[in-house]
Amino acid sequence: MRLGLVAGENVVSFSPLFFRRIYSLVYEKTTPTSSPEQLRAQIAERRWIGFNVTTPYKSTIYDLLDVRDPVVEAIRAVNTVAITPEGQWHGYNTDFEAAYYLLGELQHVYPEWEAVLLLGTGGAARAVAWAHWQLLPEIPIYFVSRTPERAPLPFAAPHNVLSYSQAIDQPWPARTLLVQATPIGMFPRIQALPDFPPDRIQPTWVVWELIYNPNPTLFAQRARQQGASIETGMLFFRKQAERSLAIWERMWVERYRPRIRSAS
Ligand SMILES: NC(=O)c1ccc[n+]([C@@H]2O[C@H](COP(=O)([O-])OP(=O)(O)OC[C@H]3O[C@@H](n4cnc5c(N)ncnc54)[C@H](OP(=O)(O)O)[C@@H]3O)[C@@H](O)[C@H]2O)c1
Repeated sequence: MRLGLVAGENVVSFSPLFFRRIYSLVYEKTTPTSSPEQLRAQIAERRWIGFNVTTPYKSTIYDLLDVRDPVVEAIRAVNTVAITPEGQWHGYNTDFEAAYYLLGELQHVYPEWEAVLLLGTGGAARAVAWAHWQLLPEIPIYFVSRTPERAPLPFAAPHNVLSYSQAIDQPWPARTLLVQATPIGMFPRIQALPDFPPDRIQPTWVVWELIYNPNPTLFAQRARQQGASIETGMLFFRKQAERSLAIWERMWVERYRPRIRSAS
């Protein structure tokens, strides 16, 4: 099985290491050198049967998909593509699946939170929000955006969007789940902090940082100093990667292996 990652040149991802070291798979990283139309040919040449996609190519790949899983349609975000033997691209979102699983686990560990404060409105934030809404639809979710009036939220609910100054001023319940879903603080700019001041975090909060490099981020460290419970992005990374692999394996078993058998 040949697999890969479509990512920006400067993106540092654990995915190649993870799939090569743990599963001994061929997993290459590529940065498109040509137009989106030529990207299909570029990937076909590599003979991948699937790939992950990350910043800044998520929208490009979304537009190129032949088939979209309903979750991908709902949140307008894709992170995993399986390629059929005929060359069709099927898009999935395993961030959603990982978030659904991990939110379920968090529910067992922590007393139920009364609100979700979600920094960022990108693909990962939307995946977490969508999963949370499926699991706990009665709990309000507040996205925080630099440009709340232009936040790219394709769904009607959950749909509260605040600016950073509104989020800072608003009183938050003692039991709040804060999800840090922006790239602020990610390697190599590890000293950067999101615009939500850590001293607003209460000791009774759970802070879930989606970044896994560094692990923990400066923001997560500050949250811990405030007394909050923290979760880092490492388990999230692992879960979404495992779910991607399950999708590619299914494609391999159901669509590629029968063709190899019938040819031999
Ligand atoms: N652990 C994992 O496996 C995993 C999986 C997926 C993502 N992640 C991490 O989660 C983070 C978000 O990923 P993503 O795919 O959602 O990225 P994305 O689609 O690029 O979205 C990131 C969001 O963060 C906000 N943002 C971007 N630049 C910012 C800046 N300079 N200052 C403040 N806010 C900024 C933006 O929201 P506004 O424009 O509305 O402010 C943007 O929509 C990344 O750090 C990524 O590494 C981790």
